[in-house]
Amino acid sequence: MEFSKIFNWRKVFGLIALIVLFVALAWGSQHSNPNFSHQWETLAEPGKLSQAHATLENNCSACHTTVKGVEANKCILCHANNQSVLQRQPTSFHANIQTCKECHLEHRGRAQRPTEMNHIALANIGLKQMADAIDSSDEERAKVIQLKHWLSQTDSSSDLRTNIPPREFILNCMTCHRNKDLHFGYFGKGCGDCHTTKTWSIPEYRHPSARSMDCSQCHQAPPSHYMKHFKMISQKVAGKPKARVTQCFLCHQTTSWIDILETGLYKHH
Ligand code: HEC
Ligand code: HEC
Ligand code: HEC
Ligand code: HEC
Ligand code: HEC
Ligand code: HEC
Ligand code: HEC
Repeated sequence: MEFSKIFNWRKVFGLIALIVLFVALAWGSQHSNPNFSHQWETLAEPGKLSQAHATLENNCSACHTTVKGVEANKCILCHANNQSVLQRQPTSFHANIQTCKECHLEHRGRAQRPTEMNHIALANIGLKQMADAIDSSDEERAKVIQLKHWLSQTDSSSDLRTNIPPREFILNCMTCHRNKDLHFGYFGKGCGDCHTTKTWSIPEYRHPSARSMDCSQCHQAPPSHYMKHFKMISQKVAGKPKARVTQCFLCHQTTSWIDILETGLYKHH
């Protein structure tokens, strides 16, 4: 997977154009994170390893080296061929990654799995990789510089009117979550306009009333509704022989799609 694909160029550059109109560009110096060297050896009790790595409890150097701390190469040595990770859309970025500890935390005890997805870390990894890539074009590198500049201006401000921090906002959610789009594309590609990266549910959301007649503006009927099945089964079950497919509200309720109006739960045989 190419890392450039995880970024939302169009969207962010649209915004940059807007921001540039109002803000005089002052190219600040890049902030670089100070590199602390971990003195992991001298720390007595880092905490127990996860269940999956329990057999490495006495083999610290399976993951650590004296100077560099946790080294991705050591993880990769054991995990390079994990096909299920590489082939699953959201995690296929693993094919292209040289750092692990941002999302794979350890020493939290046996009961905790060693994974916490971190979208901000993901964005940082992507930006760094693109800036470092020797074969990336000047144009691509210029984009990265602009993105970083935009971030340095926006990170600390609250001008961005979304629920997610700017560093997540630059991600192109579709690259990894297209398969999760319950909205059949009706709500666009900017999942981050409405969702956060913690959970897809939005507790404050109130569904339109069951008396709404706009169901088909937000919902796609299943393929069977466009086949003979609709006449033979759906219309009969619902007792609405004249209802057209787009008139979901004549047959459906908002509780569940198999909760048919005036008929009750439909059970497959
Ligand atoms: C399965 C791989 C693995 C093994 C084996 C392992 N560690 Fe770690 N360790 C990690 C990871 C990953 C981190 C950093 C991420 C985090 O903060 O959880 C870490 C962090 C640490 C830290 C905190 C400082 C730092 O480098 O971030 C110490 C101290 C540490 N380990 C000591 C040990 C000791 C001592 C052993 C052997 C008893 C050991 N580790 C075995 C994976 C491992
Ligand atoms: C000596 C080989 C070895 C090393 C080194 C190693 N692992 Fe593992 N890891 C395993 C084994 C074995 C399992 C359990 C079976 C499996 O899931 O493949 C495992 C499981 C995992 C899991 C799944 C855990 C779960 O409960 O879902 C993750 C994630 C993982 N390792 C990441 C890492 C990372 C990150 C590092 C480096 C910090 C690392 N591993 C170092 C052998 C290793
Ligand atoms: C940006 C965050 C991120 C980074 C960086 C990352 N991973 Fe992962 N990784 C994940 C997530 C999220 C999953 C999915 C875990 C799940 O399904 O519970 C995963 C899954 C895995 C699994 C499969 C776990 C299982 O349950 O079978 C392994 C092995 C793994 N990663 C190893 C690595 C190694 C090795 C590196 C470094 C080369 C790495 N990861 C870097 C987020 C990350
Ligand atoms: C490069 C891939 C990638 C990108 C880009 C990405 N994510 Fe994720 N996201 C993941 C992975 C991996 C997980 C962990 C769960 C899993 O393995 O399916 C995850 C988890 C989530 C979750 C937690 C619920 C769940 O499915 O487990 C939400 C919500 C989410 N992402 C939203 C977003 C949004 C919104 C964006 C865009 C702003 C985004 N993600 C961008 C890879 C990505
Ligand atoms: C215009 C706003 C909007 C956009 C854009 C949007 N969604 Fe949603 N999405 C919602 C609302 C509202 C809900 C209902 C939330 C609830 O009931 O908790 C929802 C629910 C979901 C759910 C089910 C959550 C649950 O707990 O059952 C998933 C999964 C989901 N959206 C994925 C996506 C993905 C992937 C994208 C991007 C392709 C996306 N959404 C874009 C508004 C949006
Ligand atoms: C303004 C957009 C909108 C309208 C109009 C709308 N819905 Fe929804 N509906 C959603 C969203 C968002 C979700 C949550 C994501 C999903 O499941 O698709 C949802 C979920 C549902 C669910 C799934 C509940 C579940 O948990 O399985 C049903 C059933 C449903 N709607 C029926 C209807 C019916 C019937 C109508 C018309 C009376 C309707 N909706 C009108 C946006 C809408
Ligand atoms: C004539 C009545 C009727 C209309 C109009 C109708 N449906 Fe249905 N629909 C049904 C019936 C009955 C079932 C369950 C039996 C079946 O599969 O036909 C069903 C099943 C479904 C299911 C599948 C539930 C499952 O889990 O298998 C979905 C989703 C659905 N309808 C969505 C819609 C949407 C969205 C619309 C409007 C765009 C719509 N329907 C219009 C009667 C109707």
